[in-house]
Amino acid sequence: MEIVILPTAQEVGEMAARIVADVVRRKPTAVIGLATGSSPLGIYASLEARVKRGELDFSRVRAFALDEYVGLAPSHPESYHDVIDRTATRPLGMDPALVHVPDGTAADLAAACRHYEHMIDDAGGVDVQILGIGANGHIGFNEPTSSLASRTRIKTLTPQTRQDNARFFGSLDEVPTHCLTQGLGTIMRARQVVLVAQGAAKATAIGTAVEGPVSAMCPASVLQLHEHATIVVDEDAAAGLKLVPYYKHTYANKPDWQRV
Ligand code: F6R
Repeated sequence: MEIVILPTAQEVGEMAARIVADVVRRKPTAVIGLATGSSPLGIYASLEARVKRGELDFSRVRAFALDEYVGLAPSHPESYHDVIDRTATRPLGMDPALVHVPDGTAADLAAACRHYEHMIDDAGGVDVQILGIGANGHIGFNEPTSSLASRTRIKTLTPQTRQDNARFFGSLDEVPTHCLTQGLGTIMRARQVVLVAQGAAKATAIGTAVEGPVSAMCPASVLQLHEHATIVVDEDAAAGLKLVPYYKHTYANKPDWQRV
């Protein structure tokens, strides 16, 4: 794992965007994994600026979202279909036909999950996966005790996650209770992963994910087993890490040829 600690949330977004931009520049038909929530918004904004400056072209990029609520129509403003469309597909100039989100309204949800896994495989797998992290260490909606080998499936959201996400809805009651999410095994198959976290509310989760044991109690800790994972955090989100001086030293002394 590479741990990058930057002074501000804005720099976190810029740095993670550089990683994604580098993949897309090398492979214009890259497959990218998209996250929703607040954490990746800075990444999308920074990528959008590059597209507007004519430095980057997402028109042939294929994308798979991590997750979707069960029971929200794709047209609902808080469905991840709509959120991804608003925050990533349109601003980046992606072709909507190439952007996929699990179908949380399918009559057969288990079949929809299997189909999603097949689509990712058929696309050749994910080149770079963008991740945020929940205060309880979840990635995607893989809540604590999720199987480290899990694939796309139906999950029950924890009360904490529903509470955390209530800010996007009119009230807690409107937050769905279930979701479809890529599994930890699905995420681990991405060739590269970049996880971003900003703010003190993520400090415990980052400390446990990076320096704790690999454990289903902190789903993001599975990334310790990934061969190309970069964790980009601001100072507040780094507050739970014990080896901050080492991570800063490593980053400051990174050879130029390794820099993104
Ligand atoms: C979103 C997702 C979640 C979020 C996490 C953090 O697709 O899968 O794991 O990344 O809940 O959410 P924010 O970024 O809103 O703090």
